[in-house]
Amino acid sequence: MNNNETAVIFGATSAVGQALSKIHAEQGGALILVGRDESKLDVTAADLRTRGASQVDCLVADLDDFDKHQSLLQEIENKADDIAKYYFFYGTLPDQKACEASWQESHKALTTNFLSAASLLTLIANKVETESKNKGDRGIIVVTSVAGDRGRQSNYIYGAAKGGLTLFLQGLRNRLHKSGCSVTTVKPGFIDTPMTSDIEKGGPLWATPEKVAVDIYKAAQKGKNEIYTPNFWMPIMLIIKNIPETIFKKLSL
Ligand SMILES: NC(=O)c1ccc[n+]([C@@H]2O[C@H](COP(=O)([O-])OP(=O)(O)OC[C@H]3O[C@@H](n4cnc5c(N)ncnc54)[C@H](OP(=O)(O)O)[C@@H]3O)[C@@H](O)[C@H]2O)c1
Repeated sequence: MNNNETAVIFGATSAVGQALSKIHAEQGGALILVGRDESKLDVTAADLRTRGASQVDCLVADLDDFDKHQSLLQEIENKADDIAKYYFFYGTLPDQKACEASWQESHKALTTNFLSAASLLTLIANKVETESKNKGDRGIIVVTSVAGDRGRQSNYIYGAAKGGLTLFLQGLRNRLHKSGCSVTTVKPGFIDTPMTSDIEKGGPLWATPEKVAVDIYKAAQKGKNEIYTPNFWMPIMLIIKNIPETIFKKLSL
């Protein structure tokens, strides 16, 4: 990256967001951190400054608050008028059974994991389209999930949100291509982060946030369309996606 590149990190206090921000900081980049927990943001920002970030700003926002998205984007623009990368790292892993029992729970999960990102992306896309292509390489990088590749009984609310977001990003990529802005969809498998604290961990399918962040950073620099991380998830998901529905519906997945 150029040393003066500015990246916006939505969900900057997430484990993967922090790992990615460290890479940007070590390259001397500038960061605008967006999260809902001010004290966590401050700790993260202090760490990134010691790692070499040229500038770190923090904005506190609950990203489920749609009414504030426009003013949040304006605050970001006030901090830096030349944003090179917009990263999306926030999310929740809902309890599937609680979602089945309560539409409110499902609605909350769909809001955070899909609608909120779709709202922010709508505003960002309109801004990017009006900017000059001479601004250089610009990119939107959004973390969805392998869970969005196929609906399963054990997590189809989260999967539907991530799958919906993946489809939204496909369309956005198609739309923004002519504006010189790449749209990268990131599909991780299991990552050892606070989000998965209730799941038993260990084994070859689990990745660290640092490994996932390196994959994301490289993909963002190349303006890739879509990646699986770690990349062994690509053949796994190819198989899973191709299991006929008549068989798939009988499996306990
Ligand atoms: N961990 C996995 O196995 C896995 C697998 C596939 C995809 N992913 C995706 O990877 C991304 C990063 O997750 P992670 O594993 O790094 O999890 P994490 O450390 O638990 O981070 C989740 C972040 O989302 C933030 N957040 C949740 N709701 C928010 C809201 N309404 N407004 C603002 N921020 C909000 C949380 O903020 P607070 O710090 O304030 O709580 C937290 O920083 C997520 O999109 C997740 O869905 C994770």
